[in-house]
Amino acid sequence: MAGVTDRDDVLFDLASMRKQYRAQGLAESELAAGPVEQFARWFEQAATEGGLFEPNAMVVSTADAEGRPSSRTVLLKHFDERGFVFYTNYDSRKGRELGSNPYVSLLFPWHPMARQVIVSGVARRTGRDETAAYFRSRPHGSRLGAWASAQSSVVAGREDLDAAYAELAERYPEGGQVPVPPHWGGFRVAPSEVEFWQGRENRLHDRLRYVARADGSWRVERLSP
Ligand SMILES: Cc1cc2nc3c(=O)[nH]c(=O)nc-3n(C[C@H](O)[C@H](O)[C@H](O)COP(=O)(O)O)c2cc1C
Repeated sequence: MAGVTDRDDVLFDLASMRKQYRAQGLAESELAAGPVEQFARWFEQAATEGGLFEPNAMVVSTADAEGRPSSRTVLLKHFDERGFVFYTNYDSRKGRELGSNPYVSLLFPWHPMARQVIVSGVARRTGRDETAAYFRSRPHGSRLGAWASAQSSVVAGREDLDAAYAELAERYPEGGQVPVPPHWGGFRVAPSEVEFWQGRENRLHDRLRYVARADGSWRVERLSP
């Protein structure tokens, strides 16, 4: 049987697509004291030798008030001991969901390195000063785009988007100031658990998870692959 579908015109035999992952593992003894430091080490490797197009691309999963999940890719723009920051439209689906249910999962799919990092935590809006500082660092076109798009709402057609952008480009010419949209800004995800997954041979992968203690320190546990 070809793949996971009954179609007889599939190009790939999905069921037989598998890679043998690297033998070099991740040991408790080599872990950093905290997950942010460990993330920094892996992120540097992902950015320099990972062969990844956008190592800061991550899958953000949210759930609505009834627990129905949704996922999408966003770009990580900053991280430090306080958490992981991304920017978006607060009126978007994810923005509204985080408004009623701040629990969130971030997943970094670093497939070429046979690695993934999964962060679980709580998202809070960044302060307006922090948002404004980042907004001003964006290219002019991206700043206009944040105004032109009512993210996640249904739009009649491409023409409407282009017309909204053209109107804004006339009102705010290149080189001038663009105000920060009130509906746009950052979320900072404060981690409560961070799992580092390293693919190993024979599917015996290493999974080491930091779990926050009440006093702010971290304990590490190994999960079965
Ligand atoms: C590589 C990549 C990077 C993206 N970065 C962002 C981002 O930083 N912020 C954002 O709001 N959307 C970003 N998007 C678009 C989101 O995936 C998504 O379409 C959008 O945020 C609307 O999501 P929602 O309707 O679930 O809220 C990115 C998409 C891709 C593929």
